[in-house]
Amino acid sequence: MSAAPDIARYDGCREVCRRLEHPGLATDVRRWIDHLGLETTVDQARIEDVLEALAPGADQCILHVGVGNSKLAERFASRVALIDGLTVWEPEQAYARSLAIPGYTVHFLSKYAREFVRTITNCYNYIIDNNLASFACCKFHFHRMLDNYVWCLRPGGRILTDQRGMDWTVEEDPRWALTFDDLVVVGERFGLRAAAITDSVYELRLPGTGRGR
Ligand SMILES: C[S@@+](CC[C@H](N)C(=O)[O-])C[C@H]1O[C@@H](n2cnc3c(N)ncnc32)[C@H](O)[C@@H]1O
Repeated sequence: MSAAPDIARYDGCREVCRRLEHPGLATDVRRWIDHLGLETTVDQARIEDVLEALAPGADQCILHVGVGNSKLAERFASRVALIDGLTVWEPEQAYARSLAIPGYTVHFLSKYAREFVRTITNCYNYIIDNNLASFACCKFHFHRMLDNYVWCLRPGGRILTDQRGMDWTVEEDPRWALTFDDLVVVGERFGLRAAAITDSVYELRLPGTGRGR
């Protein structure tokens, strides 16, 4: 069997960053854009509108990667079983905790880290990540992130993302910007099917219809 293709543009990207403890470029950014004081980004808002239309039910679970101002949890937590969130910015975690939203837990955890599979014990119908590759440090950790996501997705579960967030990279490195075609290719590697839900909001979906592990 031939190996699934990689994204050609990644050829020049670092294979392994060797930062096994703190992978991802946002973990040592000195001046972080404080999203607590900002409106939800346009791309995040579009994903939330799609989520609204998909109408997650009372037995469903959501993982929000990059919680920012926690508005997603404020909007959806009362309608679903639980929302877990990830951030690498401590004030976001402290703010999320101060909201005391029932069923909402924010972990200080990198989506690229191997600790993910020890810390995340729930399985999700939806993983929301508007910045899929924006903070990627190397191919190894980008692929580890996708592996982490597949590991905790329920059968039929979806990763929702948006073109605007896929266009943005923290170091303005165009090699880490993703197109929809890239999503198709990278999805194939992990058994995920890419589809456009709107002009800019995309899903990577795990096949199946079951409801849990
Ligand atoms: C640009 S903010 C976006 C916030 C929100 N999603 C929005 O669009 O309004 C980036 C978010 O990604 C999170 N983040 C960055 N690198 C991460 C990583 N390696 N693991 C988990 N979260 C990360 C940050 O903590 C922050 O919450």
